[in-house]
Amino acid sequence: MSHSPELFHRPELAERIARQVLTVAVGSAASSGVFLAAPRRTGKSTFLREDLRPAFERADALVVYADLWANPTADPGEVIVAAIRAMLATNDGVVMRLAKASGLSKIAIGGAVNFDLDRVGLSKDISLTDALVALSDEIEQVIVLVIDEAQHAITTDAGIAALFALKAARDELNSTHHHGLRLVCTGSNRDKLAMLRNSKDQAFYGAPMVDFPMLGKDFIAWFCEKAALPFPLPPERIWPVFVAAGYRPELLGAAADTLRFNFDVSADTGPDRFVDAVSQLATEMNQVQRKVIRSLTPIQQAVLRVMAVTGSNYAPFEAATMALYRKGLLEVAEDDVKVDVPNVQQALIALQEKKLVWRAARGVYAIEEQAVTDILASDGLLTGLEPASE
Ligand SMILES: Nc1ncnc2c1ncn2[C@@H]1O[C@H](COP(=O)(O)OP(=O)(O)OP(=O)(O)O)[C@@H](O)[C@H]1O
Ligand SMILES: [Mg+2]
Repeated sequence: MSHSPELFHRPELAERIARQVLTVAVGSAASSGVFLAAPRRTGKSTFLREDLRPAFERADALVVYADLWANPTADPGEVIVAAIRAMLATNDGVVMRLAKASGLSKIAIGGAVNFDLDRVGLSKDISLTDALVALSDEIEQVIVLVIDEAQHAITTDAGIAALFALKAARDELNSTHHHGLRLVCTGSNRDKLAMLRNSKDQAFYGAPMVDFPMLGKDFIAWFCEKAALPFPLPPERIWPVFVAAGYRPELLGAAADTLRFNFDVSADTGPDRFVDAVSQLATEMNQVQRKVIRSLTPIQQAVLRVMAVTGSNYAPFEAATMALYRKGLLEVAEDDVKVDVPNVQQALIALQEKKLVWRAARGVYAIEEQAVTDILASDGLLTGLEPASE
């Protein structure tokens, strides 16, 4: 790309988060890492890359960034390992340490170290902990590992193994002998992220979950100023529609594109047209999801509805859950569909393929996006399915 689009920066927010992450109070679980959750398309990744990473670097930390969604076919465990390897590769001193530690005898004096970084990894001869310890000792700086879309780590065995390796590394590096390791994880779904920290056998047990702040009025003021439309945009008119459209900057950009070359609109009518365009785009985006939901088979829809209603208590094959599926099916007068384990299993697979449902390793399920639940609710599909006893 010749030039990247202009971005609104949030240096104060980044500074604040960086400071909180780097200075850990005695007894605080924040050394377990911090989780930042915010809905889809609200600017999480942009903030991590453009604001938070530089803020950590200004505070003299070394940042390792892994995006577990950048390549959906790559195993999340391998993505984490690759990000760490790439950082190791940039530092000759640490490669030398690893070479020595691994007993590589022939180190050419003054020459390049012939050490294969593929030997670092999960169940390899040099563990992630060893590698991060060597890096910490070499650079004598805090290491901050930023994992975007961290919930994907628990969808594969290698991903889970990587999380445990990081936990071990964190405990070691945060001891007095080294220079500290912090983890910052983000994701678009609180329920999914919560799975990484809610149970004692999870690597980030007790790590604080923080609602990542949405772009605010200062962003809208900046946007209105930069929009370069044939008419001025009054920020106070745009702010409420931005909120109603889920704080998604792209919708504003797309609305502006529809009006940019429209020279009939005046300063009087322009803002109204803009507001209409944003609402229309937001509705269209929901329509796409709504169509997918409407095209489900009765049993798929029943499974999706029950999952949305039961939330984190969802147990796919329990008798009580089966009863709820049947209840949901009866409502659509489909009493000839058999509700049994194989049928439910099949429905769950279909829902995953349609990207409505997300599956962690070990058979835990969650609705893919809050937007799906919102659509079900606004279509009245979540009533009448409450579990019998709480
Ligand atoms: N600070 C900003 N200034 C201008 N545009 C922004 C800003 N933050 C995000 N955007 C725009 O909003 C869109 C979504 O941003 P981004 O990918 O960072 O969000 P996300 O929350 O990580 O999304 P996803 O849920 O898909 O991971 C992008 O097109 C991006 O350019
Ligand atoms: Mg993102």
